[in-house]
Amino acid sequence: MEEKLKRVNELLTKYHQEHLLTVYNNLDKEKQEKLLNQILAIDFEQMEKLYQSTKIKPEFKDCKIEPIAYVEKDKLPFNEKEDYLKIGEEKIKQGKLAVVTMAGGQGTRLGHKGPKGTFDLGLSSHKSIFEILCDTLKEAKAKYQARIPWYLMTSIENNYDTVKFFEKNNYFGYPKEEIKFFIQGELPMLSEEGKILLTEEGLVKQAADGHGGIFEAMHKDGVVKDMLEKGIEWVFIGGVDNVLVKMVDPILMGLAEKNHALAAGKSVVKANPQERVGVFCKKNGRPSVIEYTEITEEMANARDEQGELLYGESHILCNLFNIKAITQIGENKLPYHQAHKKATYLNEKGEIIVPEKPNAYKFEAFIFDSFERLDNMAIMRVRREEEFAPVKNAEGVDSPETARKLYQEFHKIK
Ligand code: UD1
Repeated sequence: MEEKLKRVNELLTKYHQEHLLTVYNNLDKEKQEKLLNQILAIDFEQMEKLYQSTKIKPEFKDCKIEPIAYVEKDKLPFNEKEDYLKIGEEKIKQGKLAVVTMAGGQGTRLGHKGPKGTFDLGLSSHKSIFEILCDTLKEAKAKYQARIPWYLMTSIENNYDTVKFFEKNNYFGYPKEEIKFFIQGELPMLSEEGKILLTEEGLVKQAADGHGGIFEAMHKDGVVKDMLEKGIEWVFIGGVDNVLVKMVDPILMGLAEKNHALAAGKSVVKANPQERVGVFCKKNGRPSVIEYTEITEEMANARDEQGELLYGESHILCNLFNIKAITQIGENKLPYHQAHKKATYLNEKGEIIVPEKPNAYKFEAFIFDSFERLDNMAIMRVRREEEFAPVKNAEGVDSPETARKLYQEFHKIK
């Protein structure tokens, strides 16, 4: 321990983060050990770079941004659609598809205590979001008589509760051996002065590193290896909060296969320039998404000659990746985006500070930044009322109420 403490002190002096040992002497042995291990695991050089990045506003000036080409599912010629369907169905029957649900988010906006997937949508069946997602897998499994492995990405914060919920609900009747959980990574949070924050307990304050951490986590936790051993070729990756998500879509798979694309994504028409969705585009000739937090007013409002939004293909977090793409992307980290958040922390004097306004930076990688690593990506526009019913906010737009209504209309139930 003495040796470890010495190494930690050297590191902290070098990177001007000495305050991390503020309450070290008041911690019990177990927590002291935990804190030292946390500090030794920090990549301080990376944290310094991330801090520098908070001073730069994302600019698209140096990039060439253009609208992206897409196909509209409803307008596909009959033969073409049948062709895609046949290709995709064959792959599914051969057990070449795996599904990943990203469920590591905190769901702060929804205000639900516990993992978002455990939320009861308010249907008469009282199904949770996880069960609703699982229903679609059970249906596809029965239809294609195939094995469809389901992987769920959780975070350190919600992994225990998620796994327990599945156990308690008997995996919703899905084969237990086809469900696997893996945990995404975390990164320390920084103060506005670039200091790593401490939790109220005096440990390093970490936050989930965004769903872009998925590729690294899939490699680290042996998910990619498991998929390769199972002969998986295509991996659908979606969010947990869309109760109409179509995780098994043979047409999307056929489209990607036929176009030799290593990934395919679904879009819906953006409802209005202010809608809080990312939009597909081409950045320097490559597929990309501009997030709603980063798009400029001008871009969000730009229209083509027909009056349609120029950047109107909403990204709905429904993407399909070839296993080759997953391996390729996982070789290098994706860039991080910063979020300015309110974070309660322990200051150098050992006092707990509860901020009234954002005081800290959290860093997140976004899965869609991986698209830029691919030469080509197939985009398929689908109908919003069939595939997009997000549960984001407690009330108003994208709330349980709006999602429930869309779900009931689609499934023709009360
Ligand atoms: C997201 C997309 C946005 C898209 C919209 C569609 C991002 C950053 N943006 O916005 O482009 O148009 O959905 O509904 O995703 N998650 C993790 N780990 C994390 C963070 C999030 O697994 O560290 C999961 C969440 O559990 C959720 C999904 O990612 O399933 C979306 O996350 P959220 O941060 O809520 O994204 P939005 O802001 O809604």
